[in-house]
Amino acid sequence: MPAMRFSLLLCVCCALMACGGLLPKCAEAAKARHFKWEVSNMFWSPDCEEKVLIGINGQFPGPTIRAKAGDTIVVELKNALHTEGVVIHWHGIRQVGTPWADGTASISQCAINPEETFTYRFVVDKPGTYFYHGHYGMQRAAGLYGSLVVDVADGEEEPFEYDGELNLLLSDWYHESIYTQMVGLSSKPFRWIGEPQSLLINGRGQFNCSLAAAHTPGTKQCATGGNRHCAPVVFPVLPNKTYRLRIASTTSLASLNLAVGNHKLMVVEADGNYVDPFVVDDIDIYSGDSYSVLLTTDQNPSSNYWVSVGVRGRQPNTAPALAVLNYRPNRASRPPALAPPATPAWNDYAHSKAFTYRILARAGTPPPPGTSNRRIELLNTQNRMDGHIKWSINNVSMVLPATPYLGSLKMGLKSALAAARPADTFGRGYDVTRPPANPNTTVGDNVYVLEHNTTVDVVLQNANALANNVSEVHPWHLHGHDFWVLGYGDGAFPGDAGYAARLNLKNPPLRNTAVIFPYGWTAIRFVADNPGVWAFHCHIEPHLHMGMGVIFAEAVDRVGEVPKAAVSCGATATALMADDHV
Ligand code: C2O
Ligand code: CU
Repeated sequence: MPAMRFSLLLCVCCALMACGGLLPKCAEAAKARHFKWEVSNMFWSPDCEEKVLIGINGQFPGPTIRAKAGDTIVVELKNALHTEGVVIHWHGIRQVGTPWADGTASISQCAINPEETFTYRFVVDKPGTYFYHGHYGMQRAAGLYGSLVVDVADGEEEPFEYDGELNLLLSDWYHESIYTQMVGLSSKPFRWIGEPQSLLINGRGQFNCSLAAAHTPGTKQCATGGNRHCAPVVFPVLPNKTYRLRIASTTSLASLNLAVGNHKLMVVEADGNYVDPFVVDDIDIYSGDSYSVLLTTDQNPSSNYWVSVGVRGRQPNTAPALAVLNYRPNRASRPPALAPPATPAWNDYAHSKAFTYRILARAGTPPPPGTSNRRIELLNTQNRMDGHIKWSINNVSMVLPATPYLGSLKMGLKSALAAARPADTFGRGYDVTRPPANPNTTVGDNVYVLEHNTTVDVVLQNANALANNVSEVHPWHLHGHDFWVLGYGDGAFPGDAGYAARLNLKNPPLRNTAVIFPYGWTAIRFVADNPGVWAFHCHIEPHLHMGMGVIFAEAVDRVGEVPKAAVSCGATATALMADDHV
């Protein structure tokens, strides 16, 4: 039956497309794209070591969704895991009017039980490079992710030209299961997950060997052939063409840097928004980021070149991932003449900031409102609680409830919110350069209630962690919105004094993920015009698991009827049953 509906829709679209340029409105025929997915555990060898991961329809990474702006995506998701729930989040898709399809367990919906099916139905309204991933426990780190690419609608054009496209979904990979990792993170004493064993490009990596051993002293050459799961990634290209590289990172921990031997990269898109084009030798990609860069194959065509992805922001203990840019008609197996480009030093933050600060909106991007109605200042600290290690925001570490917020707030359940609302500020005078003077913290729901259509600024303040002289990079991702990145600063946020002067209101980039640098702050602005309940959190999986996030509950009274399947657990299920009796 769904198959039939699918082909009917296809026919309608074909018929409309056949009208060619005759009818200008022809292009507006948006299409529903149906997918039937089954999520299951499977044996896989992403870096040639066999492990168990979470895949979709027998694939890892999951299938790529390709759509056009305006299309409706329908994913019938069956949970074929044996003993745990599952959800999938569509990272970068704002879910306007469909907040229950955001795929966040305990926030937008009840986790889908084993053997049950939940249908995600939502519109992809903006062209761009996106991805999807699990959003329950640490399932993303278990391999539950894939790409989601939205092309411009028929009749529209991208504001730049290219001849072909290459897709690079970047991730990191641990040999320990996510269960072992989660137990360690919540144990006393705390057991840190450490650095990943390998970095993956489109789900493939190299552990304990290098594809370029000849250029990398002390490493052994990877055995080629044999295992299809970890065969080297090859990107075939023709000389003197321009390619659009779509690059997204769904890493659990690692901040990454990507470079292509001898080639320049022109950055044109970030998180589904066009940016003012600029040219670099390498780009930083934090977890949750996506970019498009243009690469022109203008180098010596008799050679192949390495694409190299290495670690930034943490002392690396993981070898770079390599892939081959294969200038045809050279053989793909022909080793590049040049060594893989070296990743900039992990702690060269000047390099990272120089890159990040160059990302500005392309002309034509909507500008932010000139002022805001509310400013929420969020201090990020690492804390202790009863012998556990936590990340806290304004001294509260986020824990998620049994009953998802969207349903419980929409149904007006009293138990939905903690009595005390989290604070809008951490006050002035906190010394961000030292470990917290009082490292104790508490847990809470961290729900900020936002008034409909208000303009909200959020200032994220980084600080020193528990150990001396340690402050990490944290990429913060907002669900349900793009935001303008208004500015960055080093040290403590100045408060009102000098704040406005440091903001870029002229051409700030629109994004859904923004980084805070060590000991620094980042200011963002968005309009609370999308009723729903939206997570805002550090995209580093173990940090989120340790409480590094807040929730924005936005005009929930304006949310349409929440599908029953999204509220079929906890207190909302009980309330539904009571209603049925009336
Ligand atoms: Cu891509 Cu809440 O995450
Ligand atoms: Cu973090």
